[in-house]
Amino acid sequence: MLYPMIRPALFKLDPEKAHELTLNQLKKIQGTALQALITQQVPSRPVTCMGIQFDNPLGLAAGLDKNGECIDAFGAMGFGFVEVGTVTPRPQAGNDKPRLFRVVEAEGVINRMGFNNLGVDHLVENVKKAQFRGVIGINIGKNKDTPVEQGKDDYLICMEKTYAHAGYITVNISSPNTPGLRTLQYGEALDDLLSAIKNKQQELNSRHLKYVPVAVKIAPDLSEEELVQVADSLVRHNIDGVIATNTTLDRSLVEGLPYANETGGLSGRPVQLKSTEIIRRLHQELNGRLPIIGVGGIDSLTAAREKLAAGATLLQVYSGFIYKGPGLVKQIVSHL
Ligand SMILES: Cc1cc2nc3c(=O)[nH]c(=O)nc-3n(C[C@H](O)[C@H](O)[C@H](O)COP(=O)(O)O)c2cc1C
Repeated sequence: MLYPMIRPALFKLDPEKAHELTLNQLKKIQGTALQALITQQVPSRPVTCMGIQFDNPLGLAAGLDKNGECIDAFGAMGFGFVEVGTVTPRPQAGNDKPRLFRVVEAEGVINRMGFNNLGVDHLVENVKKAQFRGVIGINIGKNKDTPVEQGKDDYLICMEKTYAHAGYITVNISSPNTPGLRTLQYGEALDDLLSAIKNKQQELNSRHLKYVPVAVKIAPDLSEEELVQVADSLVRHNIDGVIATNTTLDRSLVEGLPYANETGGLSGRPVQLKSTEIIRRLHQELNGRLPIIGVGGIDSLTAAREKLAAGATLLQVYSGFIYKGPGLVKQIVSHL
């Protein structure tokens, strides 16, 4: 692949500029003869999870293709599934720039994007256009200006609009960049949200005659007690899967490095072990009652295997893909 040659040039650019440039190029070439440049043949490694068939267990994590603009390009690279979003009911600009930083020495990324996206209607149009034969997950959130107490309504609006077009839906309650969002991970607020989501899923199932599984995405910063409570709540509400984990607020592994003190969520290698530990504990608590999608710092075959050994059924990458490029997908899928 070309990525090792392109990366130095991309890393000279401001991170968000590099991101936009890459997505724009991918958008242009997907579906054209030039798609061959990014196409990788990977072996089929079928796995069933949440009742659906995945051609292989490696997916693109949420946040890279927030508006679902490059689904076919990522499919061509060999991902078994692509999670688009986080999307919110209404378009929103996200936080002020700069809001994306590379912590190169640690192969980490810090972001405080704040769910910049073009809104759920726009995303659905892109999903409808995609030719990708793999699974498309749609990750949903709430608008920043929706009070947290009414956050539930935003998730229900997004479910209503995405249900018919999604392979699965992810309820994101773990981004650190929308004030108050993570409070939905705890106690009554969580029970209330999950119960509403489950009712909505039943209603949409009857209407569309199609069962779309719902996964909940959690933070790596949960205490032991919180983790036990979250696991219990997910089981009680019959949630179909759990995605562990989102980015961390912990800076202990990047202390003193450039950009380490930027506000936001840290991802990549510095979150690898923390996320694996959460998966291991979740796996013990859940005891196979719902599957785990493991994400956080996967940057090699070894790291992928560690997540599977800890109890994950599916895997996702984001930051590792920024540092290693599409070759990482081929390396992992070919050797799992
Ligand atoms: C720039 C950036 C934006 C992200 N945006 C989202 C998002 O919109 N929704 C979400 O659920 N996770 C988002 N994430 C979190 C990733 O999906 C993933 O859970 C996290 O980065 C850990 O995986 P990684 O170490 O492979 O990056 C984002 C991560 C990064 C680096």
